Amino acid sequence: MDAIEVISRKRDGGRLSDAQIDWVIRAYTDGVVAEEQMSALAMAILLNGMDRGEIARWTAAMIASGERMDFSSLGKPTADKHSTGGVGDKITLPLAPLVAVFDVAVPQLSGRGLGHTGGTLDKLEAIPGWRADLSNDELLAQLRDVGAVVCAAGSGLAPADKKLYALRDATGTVEAIPLIASSIMSKKIAEGTGALVLDVKVGSGAFMKTHDRAEELARTMVALGTDAGVNTVALLTGMDTPLGLTAGNALEVREAVEVLAGGGPPDVVELTVTLAREMLAAAGKPDVDPAPALQDGRAMDVWRRMIAAQGGDPGAPLPVAGHTHTVTAEQDGFVSRLDAMAVGVAAWRLGAGRARKEDDVQAVAGVELHAKPGDHVTRGAPLLTLHTATPERFERALEALEDAVGYSQESITPGPVVLGKIVAD
Ligand code: URA
Repeated sequence: MDAIEVISRKRDGGRLSDAQIDWVIRAYTDGVVAEEQMSALAMAILLNGMDRGEIARWTAAMIASGERMDFSSLGKPTADKHSTGGVGDKITLPLAPLVAVFDVAVPQLSGRGLGHTGGTLDKLEAIPGWRADLSNDELLAQLRDVGAVVCAAGSGLAPADKKLYALRDATGTVEAIPLIASSIMSKKIAEGTGALVLDVKVGSGAFMKTHDRAEELARTMVALGTDAGVNTVALLTGMDTPLGLTAGNALEVREAVEVLAGGGPPDVVELTVTLAREMLAAAGKPDVDPAPALQDGRAMDVWRRMIAAQGGDPGAPLPVAGHTHTVTAEQDGFVSRLDAMAVGVAAWRLGAGRARKEDDVQAVAGVELHAKPGDHVTRGAPLLTLHTATPERFERALEALEDAVGYSQESITPGPVVLGKIVAD
């Protein structure tokens, strides 16, 4: 096999054979195919696409590059959720313990934030003592004892994806649907979950800006999961506005704990309960109503045990920013728009996210919203509070927010949280 032949085939709009795909993934993982060659191939895939058969084979080859986990010894169903990433998306935090209440184990292997979208591990690391890295044995033991784990994916899981994702990130080739779908699904299938619910975000703060692209991504991933024997469904959910009232690590943990205590913003509660219902149904429990477990303390109890099992102190006060800056409403009226991308970039510039993989994040940095689309505000009332440990960051964060807010004199009905559902054909 020859890398140039594989690249040229895709560059010229051709179809890669199974043998070519198997070879190129293995050779790239082993360092035989060079970074610049894989980079050219990724760009050819972004421009010319792949058919379903090619995507399935590409995904299988990435799974075969590493280990596969097996949870069958638990003796109970497993369910996982994956979100394609948004602003203020702290849903995993209340969701994992909520689903575990109903005797479905939740192995939630999560990532860190890159760019304007937050990462679940960065959020949980705001809790004093909490650690993201578990061995496979620790993961299995916690699933048995507590029922829910949120941790980093081990290095043995789809190593080809790890290498390729870093390359795509540096070469403008993240946005290719075949590459996103195979990247996400190779990790989820290798992880060994029996059921998977995908939360595919649509809107200004999401990878997928349009409904059509989000639906194509969702259909591709649902087909990949189903063909691999994972009971997979996808919800399309709105990401034009941040979820809830916070974007930033400790701020989002605080909001997640409010949801676990039976309160919290209505959109966060609605999405948590809807996704929990889907996960339980996909795991063979379609008749369970998870909502009461947020009110009666059962989900909070699992949360506390889940955090403590990973060294965290669920009762410890969360860190608070030393510096805040409040943005006020410029006029009377109804908020018609509060742009998720602008808030995500502002939180990132305040220190909640990283510009390079090696950067540290601030637990305390982020943006707190005092109003959402549909709310009435009066001129001068607080609209957003910016939080950071480093006040020199305010200026660039405020630049990101310059055109973030729209007003209307007419009342506004905010769009629905859930926009659609994709099931296997
Ligand atoms: N998340 C992933 O894991 N992979 C992608 O390609 C995009 C988002």
